[in-house]
Order: sequence, then C-alpha cells, then structure tokens
Amino acid sequence: MRIEPVPVLEGHVAVPGDKSISHRAVLVGALCDGETRVAGFGRSADTEATIEAARALGVEVEEQDVDTLTIHGAGLRGLTEPSGPIECRNAGTLMRLLAGILSGQRGRFELVGDESLSARPMERVAEPLRRMGSRVQTMDGHAPLVVEGASLSAIDYEPPVPSAQVKSAILLAGLFATGKTTVVEPIPTRDHTERLLERAGARVTRRPRSVSIDAAERLTLDKIEIPGDFSSAAPFLVAAAIVPGSRLTVHGVGLNPRRIGLLDVLERMGARVAIYNRRLVGGEPAGDVEMRTSELVGATVLAAEVPSLIDELPLLALAACHSRGETVVRGAGELRLKESDRIEGVVEELRRIGGHIRATRDGFRVKGVPTRLRGGIVDSRGDHRLAMLGAVAGVSSSEGVEIRGANAVEASFPGFFEVLKQLAPDALHYPPAT
Ligand code: S3P
Repeated sequence: MRIEPVPVLEGHVAVPGDKSISHRAVLVGALCDGETRVAGFGRSADTEATIEAARALGVEVEEQDVDTLTIHGAGLRGLTEPSGPIECRNAGTLMRLLAGILSGQRGRFELVGDESLSARPMERVAEPLRRMGSRVQTMDGHAPLVVEGASLSAIDYEPPVPSAQVKSAILLAGLFATGKTTVVEPIPTRDHTERLLERAGARVTRRPRSVSIDAAERLTLDKIEIPGDFSSAAPFLVAAAIVPGSRLTVHGVGLNPRRIGLLDVLERMGARVAIYNRRLVGGEPAGDVEMRTSELVGATVLAAEVPSLIDELPLLALAACHSRGETVVRGAGELRLKESDRIEGVVEELRRIGGHIRATRDGFRVKGVPTRLRGGIVDSRGDHRLAMLGAVAGVSSSEGVEIRGANAVEASFPGFFEVLKQLAPDALHYPPAT
C-alpha cells in the first residue's frame, strides 16, 4: 500500500468503538445475568476473538449488525469448559483478562495466541492469580496458558509495572474471591474495567492510589454504549497537527482522562486542540476533538504520564520529528513488550524515512525539524499501531510512504484506510490485484 503526501487535511470523521471497552463489554456481559445489548462495538480482529472466546465458553452472542451485539450472559460462574483451546489470536487484553475470569470458573481452560502474543509476558497475570489460589501455568512465562479454576481468596497487590490488563485480571478474579481484593497503582492506568464493573453492580472502591473490589453475587448490565476509540482517532489528530494548514474533527471519541495523555503532551508542544460536545457515553467521558495545525516544539514525557499515552507514543514520535527542538520520552520500557518491540520499530522505521530519532533503554529521543520527512518504506512488523504510523507518515511526508504489511491495521481498526480515504482520496494507492 502506498500513501502519497497530501497538501492539507480537512473534514470530519468518526472512528469505531473503543477496543479496550469492547473487549470488556463482551467479557463482563458474558458474566452477567440476562441480556446485555452493546451499541458502538468496535469490531476488529482482536475484538472478534473475544466474541469467539465467549462463544467457546458457552455464551450466546448475537451480532445484530457490525457494531451492535446482544450477549446472553451465562451468569458469574456459568462459563463452560470448551472442547479445545481458546484462540486469543493477537489480543493481549483478551488473554490477560480472561485468565482472571477463568480463575473463578469450574474447569480447565487453555488459552493460545498467535506468534506475537505468544512472545509477550504472561507471568505478570499468572503470578498474582496464583497468589489468589488459581492454578495457572505458563510456558516459560508465555502462552499457552492453562487456567484451572479454584476457590479464590482476596489479595492486596501492587503490580511491578503499571498495567491496566494486569489490574483488570486481578479485579475480575476478585469478583470470585472471598474478601476484598485490592490493586495498588502509584501511576494510574485506564479504568474501563472499574467503570464497567460498577455499572454492572459490583462493589468497587476507588482511592487515589488503589482500587478494591468485593466478591459479587450477580452482575447485570442491560445496555452499554461504547464511545469511539481515542487510539483510533489519534492517527488522524496527529496527521492534522503536522500537515500544514489542516483542520479536522473526530466525532464521538472516548475522552477518559487516563487515555488522553497524547492531547496533554501535544498541547504542551503547542498543538491547537479544541473539544466540543462533552458528554458521557456508557459511563465514559466523550466528545468531539478538533485539531488544527500549529508550530510544535519538543517536549519531555515522564514515566508518570506514560500509561495515559502508551499506545500513542509511536505517533508522538512522528509529531516530535516535525517539532522544533528535542523530545525525550522516558519510562516507556513497556513499549518493547507490545505487539512488537515498539521502541526498536518506531526508531528504525522513522529513521528510514528521514527522522532524527534514537532509541534509549526505556524510550527514545527525537531531534525535530519543522519540515516534512522525506518518506520511503515503513514496515508494520505485523503491528497495527506501526501500520497506522506509516500512513500518517505518508500523508505528512514529501515523497510518500510505502507501507509493508498494511493489513496489520485489522487488529484494531479494519476500516482505517477507508476513513483516511474519506479525508484524502488522492493519498491512497492500492497495489494492483494479482
Ligand atoms: C490495554 C492496556 C494497555 C494497552 C493495551 C490495551 C487494556 O496494556 O497498551 O493496548 O485494554 O487494558 P498494558 O496493560 O499491558 O499496559
């Protein structure tokens, strides 16, 4: 796929429902009594894996249309043992959250993933779940995971790294544990699980540095609407920030304060951001985000804000290449453990197209120049966030970008190139059909 430079980006777009919340809506819906109707489901390869996993566990999921589901919950302890392994494909959120849920079910469950997911660390969930009494086995710390449900007891636990997936796995297991389960997090991470479980009737206690949950008797959700995915809006917002003269609005985007660190950092760099129509969607803050191009200057991103923009750091690196002065990102070693090593990937791919960026152990440093990058080839390395980075780099470059492995976008945003095409019809060149 080739992406040509565009002179300007103007218009209005919407993006599919939030991926993190979509996984959670299906998983929590599966544990509810009665029906849960999900509107604004963010359909993607990752979230379809979650629907399939729920079905494998005996839950009926009706797909009314592309983004509307009805989940016929099995009740808190009603999931059934499937005949074979549960395929989590590329979805880390699915594997880790499901490990928490299955710890409280009767049966033996095997969770498998694709090559990328099988290389990612799983002891981070297995270890606390074992402390709660679950029998969880990993293969040298990786998938396949085998979970055998058991009677669980509450723990107080501080994960060694800030991670919403680890926190969520423990809170979900806490639904089945005797006592009050507490997760301590000195650096806050996204709280979609807490919000959803509260809506479903669980007793969640939130404090500034920790969250606790009591064992639950039953959950019910009834209806849940999912706002647009900020992480899917981010490529368009960054493109508008750096393609001269642009003005673009992404409508109906989730604006959970723990997810929008990219906006805070871009504003520090001088970006012109405006938010309209602030509202609540499914218990989550949402709104319409407008971005206009401006002159950007470099910034420093510290460890404490990293979780709020972890998935947007590749895009921030590109914005930094276009900014005057130096940008430094520290405390982001977790990027090496995502769908690919995103420190190595971002640095190598951006250098290849003319960026002045170098890797550090736990982040990167960029020497920005406020002009278009040259362009060239960007390899997604099978990682959806890098494929979208390549597209934004293409529209903002002077010579265009050929994205290798562009179909990686399917993991989180299968319609990404169609939305880009609405904004910039001349930017896209598909390879001739073979
Ligand atoms: C996610 C949490 C983050 C994030 C991932 C989705 C979630 O991962 O990078 O894309 O849905 O909870 P970690 O929990 O590993 O930080």
